[in-house]
Amino acid sequence: MKNLGILLSGRGSNFLAIADSIDAGRIRNARIAIVISNRADAPGIEAAQKRGLEATVIPSKGKDREAHDRQVAAALNEHKVDLICLAGYMRLLSPWFVQQFPQRILNIHPSLLPAFPGLEAQQQAFAYGVKVSGCTVHFVDQELDHGAIVVQKTVPVLDEDNEHSLAVRILEQEHAAYAEAINVVLEGNYQFRGRRLVRGT
Ligand code: GAR
Repeated sequence: MKNLGILLSGRGSNFLAIADSIDAGRIRNARIAIVISNRADAPGIEAAQKRGLEATVIPSKGKDREAHDRQVAAALNEHKVDLICLAGYMRLLSPWFVQQFPQRILNIHPSLLPAFPGLEAQQQAFAYGVKVSGCTVHFVDQELDHGAIVVQKTVPVLDEDNEHSLAVRILEQEHAAYAEAINVVLEGNYQFRGRRLVRGT
């Protein structure tokens, strides 16, 4: 059984989708060992408490980045976390933190990286006028939205879309993509060819 650690800052729909996937057996041999928010007002942390999961707020406001990350890492290690899943964690990680967990941190991003990194990716893609967007689950390295891609899912941009309707359809795909990526990583059923992650050992 592998221990997941979830880091979030807000709504927490990706966290809830992961929790539902575990409960439904779509993510195998895993449990959520701890959910950590850097914001006390994150709805996701309340949802975690309601589900009876270990849930902790480690406030980041005004704190030195690495000092905060050291507190987060201590909590993750205390709960023997094997894989860290960033689920709408809106805070850059320090190089120190990333080095502590090589190939053990996943992030989900609401665009087809390397297009539209950073904030409000769905709106960026919509405003640019792309005809296809989507989402990316990738390993976290020291550069923003940059590590090796584990899973991507595409979403067509429809003529009648607005930013909101597009974001809703991307979010549905995020939830499926995260479960798939977690299974790939936990099963260890992949190898690297350069930057490319390919399935199979
Ligand atoms: C998701 O769309 C996620 O991809 C995005 O924040 C949202 C969090 O929603 N993350 C990023 O933009 C990271 N750069 P959630 O709290 O409902 O999971």
